[in-house]
Amino acid sequence: MVNVLIVGSGGREHALSWKLSQSDKVETVFTAPGNGGTENNIPINIDDLDGLADFAQKNNCFTIVGPEDPLAAGIVDKFNQRNLKIFGPSKLAAQLESSKIWAKNFMKRNNIPSAKFEIFDDAQKAQDYVKSLDYNVVVKADGLAAGKGVIVCNSNDDAISAIQTILVKKTFGDAGNKIIIEERIDGIEASYIALSDGEIAIPMATSQDHKRIFDNDKGPNTGGMGAYSPTPIIGDVLAKKIQEKIIDKTIQSMKNEGIVFKGFLYAGIMLRDGEPYVLEYNVRMGDPECQPITMRMDFDLYDYFAASVDGNLSSMPLTSWKNQFAVCVVLASKGYPESYVTNEEISGFDSISNKSYVFHAGTKNSNGKIFSNGGRILGVTALGNSLESAIKNAYDAADQISWTSKYHRNDIGKKGLTYL
Ligand code: AMP
Ligand code: GLY
Repeated sequence: MVNVLIVGSGGREHALSWKLSQSDKVETVFTAPGNGGTENNIPINIDDLDGLADFAQKNNCFTIVGPEDPLAAGIVDKFNQRNLKIFGPSKLAAQLESSKIWAKNFMKRNNIPSAKFEIFDDAQKAQDYVKSLDYNVVVKADGLAAGKGVIVCNSNDDAISAIQTILVKKTFGDAGNKIIIEERIDGIEASYIALSDGEIAIPMATSQDHKRIFDNDKGPNTGGMGAYSPTPIIGDVLAKKIQEKIIDKTIQSMKNEGIVFKGFLYAGIMLRDGEPYVLEYNVRMGDPECQPITMRMDFDLYDYFAASVDGNLSSMPLTSWKNQFAVCVVLASKGYPESYVTNEEISGFDSISNKSYVFHAGTKNSNGKIFSNGGRILGVTALGNSLESAIKNAYDAADQISWTSKYHRNDIGKKGLTYL
């Protein structure tokens, strides 16, 4: 039996801890720093890499990293130097997410399909470039900006103001020292996530996120307002194409460049005329996608994490998945992704039926009571025999929960219905 340390505090980390605590190989699951829903919380911040390593060493933990920041900061390299087992990519491998410019150049030199682009650090040159184009663009900050450093433009004016926001006003700080201006690809978006040991990559179930704050994909981008799995948008033929042309090719190209990619590889995909393009890589599970995906797993996730670390995924059996749909509706506080009130008491947990599970994100537990403590608060996740019934089960459960500033989208999963 091993102990597990999960690094992070969101819905993704709660879902991972929920799943791993079901493994008969896992003794205790710790979460650092965790949230109001996770057990055995350890008060160590995700940027305290030495503190995390000390804890893992003392408690004989196998560590799993949820969010991108500690991966980009080199947590895996640090743990490896100390001979501690940890699931996730090294700092070099994490560049696929931590530098969008690195990722775009990597895709270009390895013929991995993605939008055409140019890089700028000079606002005037960037504006002149935009004016010379006859198509719409997306302006992206190079570095990590919590999913918010991407501005999708509908006109030249939009693009010029996006350049000002990122490069001149520095709204995303140093993450915006350089920008990418890329072609806007109009199509259908889906998430494809695989787990790799550096040699091969095993696909996870497909899913679709809902990134905008309001119904019908209106309003600004967020970390994700809900997700469902599987998505009928990615059928078997397309899944095979994405696996071969994007996932396997990425893992092999990384290897050819001398970088072993271990961990979750997430490709944010845009489908245009049936062809997949990579919008972004993430080097971790998606959140909220992790919540419906873990709920459908019919296998011991710990075994696959251990096989990734040990480099022997090819000896593992195929993963098996519940033949059901899962839907996660994110409950946020009004005002997210900008400003919002925190510290409001949340009620209704006792009324949730066993068809669903409430994963916590921005919550804290104070003397047995749960309070809001962030923007995205809960991920109410439910299974159903059809996508329609999973949607209904998730919203029925979401209706039981209340706090003053509660907000959610009303159309999570609906896009999938139109493809069935
Ligand atoms: P990213 O963080 O790069 O995935 O971008 C966030 C969101 O912006 C994506 O989920 C898409 O909805 C949108 N986006 C990014 N790049 C493009 C693109 N080239 N064309 C259209 N939409 C995009
Ligand atoms: N749901 C998208 C992300 O985790 O970045």
